[in-house]
Amino acid sequence: MLYIFLVLILIQTVSGAGDIEVESSVANRSIAIKGQLFCGKKPFEGAKIRLYRVFQANKEDNLAEILDSKQTYVTGMFQLEGNTEKRDRTKTEIQPFVTIHHNCDMDNKETANQGYKRWQVQIPQDYVTLGVKARKTYDFGKINLQLEFPGESYDKNFKFND
Ligand SMILES: *[C@@H]1O[C@H](CO)[C@@H](O)[C@H](O)[C@H]1NC(C)=O
Repeated sequence: MLYIFLVLILIQTVSGAGDIEVESSVANRSIAIKGQLFCGKKPFEGAKIRLYRVFQANKEDNLAEILDSKQTYVTGMFQLEGNTEKRDRTKTEIQPFVTIHHNCDMDNKETANQGYKRWQVQIPQDYVTLGVKARKTYDFGKINLQLEFPGESYDKNFKFND
């Protein structure tokens, strides 16, 4: 009798501790970003910004990991927010990563032939917050897309509506 009692206490303790650990590692996380794109002095309309859950160095963009994506309108401004709410419990970590596709200083023919320009950047990890509502926003500020960004390339696989 005493033995069964002790076993029960043991199970209770172990599962209790387990719950706490699971809670912290699988909690939802969120991230938000904003900024404004220019092509020279003009606000740039029609750039595509994608916010990914994980950084994938030198790999093809994994569209399944997109948390949010937006295009810039006439003001060139963008604001994105994403969280892991709809993700599997094994995918609640965020290593925020952003790609920006644009065709600043390219005409339609060049864009069709070469593809959009693509550059990418990792967002500092401390902008990731716990919960489904982002509590911090990483502000890119104003960016002139005429600059050639490190690792920038033409992306022929890019489809604007993906
Ligand atoms: C994430 O949030 C959703 C909605 O609030 C909730 O149903 C889900 O259990 C949460 N997931 C985790 C791993 O906490």
